[in-house]
Amino acid sequence: MKRLPVFLAALATAAPAFAQSVAPSGEVPHIVSRGGHHALIVDGAPFLMLGAQVNNSSNAASALPAVWPMLDRIHANTVEVPIAWQQVEPVEGTFDFTFLQTLLDQARAHDKRLVLLWFGAYKNTGPGYAPDWVKQDNRRFPRMKTRDGKDHGVFSPNARATLEADKRAFIRFITYLRDHDRQNTTILVQVENETGSYANPRDFGPQAQRLFIGPVPAALGKRGTWSQAYGAQADRAFNSWYTAAYCNALAVAGKAIKPLPMYANAALADPFKVPNPKDVANGGPQQDVLDIWKAAAPALDFEAPDIYDRKSADVFAFLDGYKRPDNALAVPEIGNAAEYARFFWAAIGRGAIGFSPFGMDATGYYNYPLGAKRLDDATLDAFAVPYKLFAGMQRDWAKIAFEHPTWGTAKGDDGAPQSTTLGNWTITASYGEWQLGRRTDTWIQSVPPPWASEPVGGAVVAQVAPDQYLVAGDHIRIEFTPGNGAPKNAFVLRVEEGRLVKGAFVVDRLWNGDQTDHGLNFIDQPTLLRVTVGHYE
Ligand code: DGJ
Repeated sequence: MKRLPVFLAALATAAPAFAQSVAPSGEVPHIVSRGGHHALIVDGAPFLMLGAQVNNSSNAASALPAVWPMLDRIHANTVEVPIAWQQVEPVEGTFDFTFLQTLLDQARAHDKRLVLLWFGAYKNTGPGYAPDWVKQDNRRFPRMKTRDGKDHGVFSPNARATLEADKRAFIRFITYLRDHDRQNTTILVQVENETGSYANPRDFGPQAQRLFIGPVPAALGKRGTWSQAYGAQADRAFNSWYTAAYCNALAVAGKAIKPLPMYANAALADPFKVPNPKDVANGGPQQDVLDIWKAAAPALDFEAPDIYDRKSADVFAFLDGYKRPDNALAVPEIGNAAEYARFFWAAIGRGAIGFSPFGMDATGYYNYPLGAKRLDDATLDAFAVPYKLFAGMQRDWAKIAFEHPTWGTAKGDDGAPQSTTLGNWTITASYGEWQLGRRTDTWIQSVPPPWASEPVGGAVVAQVAPDQYLVAGDHIRIEFTPGNGAPKNAFVLRVEEGRLVKGAFVVDRLWNGDQTDHGLNFIDQPTLLRVTVGHYE
């Protein structure tokens, strides 16, 4: 019998946790977690979301022709689109899901999956996407009160009527999916959008005030009042609990109709400072209040960071903060400027189940300075290069990331090399090198490559067997050196370029000579390498 390559053999003998086939199974998408790893299961198998979010006002049939070509251009397999309360219930009790049906039909025709964003009472904290009849009735749907008794712009999460009305509409939305999306084109639902409130840390109205002076809920595992339990962050902690509980109520009601995975996204706070309630979206799922969200919103599958911060140290801190054994990492929004694309590698190397630049359509709107000034070819290629590589193997990669150790990195602002240990080997990433030689070489002169001064570059590595690794990246050099525990006389035995096809690594060619003598250099070609290490006695 022909000997199977180690990686193939490992897959063949592993417990068949998931069907290899991805034919529609009728099984509703869901998230599985094991040993700190997570997988989004779609049609019975792990799925890596190569996402793109459209601009806010692209939730209209007339905008969709500007969406699909953009998704194809960057090789996205999933699109995130708002479904707004104001759009589906313009008149109280009268529902219109025409756009949702159009979206489902067109997504299927274009072979894309959907993440639907429920823009209910909260959109970037504000009430903008609530129907007019909700916005105009402040008695029934009260805005928060400030400390000095004024109306704040944001709805109170402590108002029962708002929750009930929002929930009723959300239930109708999920019911529509249950009845009209049996093939599970929709794989995730976002509950509200960037909840919380700026400038005002919580509702100071009479009802909220009564709750605030009472004891904290037992599920928080703390004693005393909010002030006793949370000190200077008490107002924020209080609003986090009630905002999370609000989202949880929608998720519970929605999942009772169709148990799709659901999540909440966060307008982030500086990850290295204690958040100042004056500056942050108080109540939203920022990383320092994730434990409160977990306790108050068990029906949400995960909380997720919306990343519009170009500092690499902050981005790494966000990714590390939301990657938890009890929280699947996903990046539902990241700026669409080219420099953000490199964080794809850092995210999936941390096991992210999805990644999605924001504002990816050709409607002519650009959200610079948060994102790109224009979606020119260089910008689109920055996202397209990694997505193209993963498009054909996203199922295999998602399964590998669920079952094996992975590491991902991206160029830091200082451009310095980074390294990690996987198994017995040290893996080092360096930036700004040509494919041959080292910039510090004195035996030959060179000018730096054009990308040396650019914020580009990243890679991901998976250890698929004790002596075998998969590596991919762009604008980066990866080097393997024996670390502690490596046998004497250890060396890189073989480097193969290839593809993952239904769980197997198919070799296209060997890399050797110039292609391996100066590290493994990835520039702008979507490339997957398998590295086998060995030793001699
Ligand atoms: C984050 C929000 O979630 C998005 O809907 C959008 O408003 C961006 N900010 C800014 O373009």
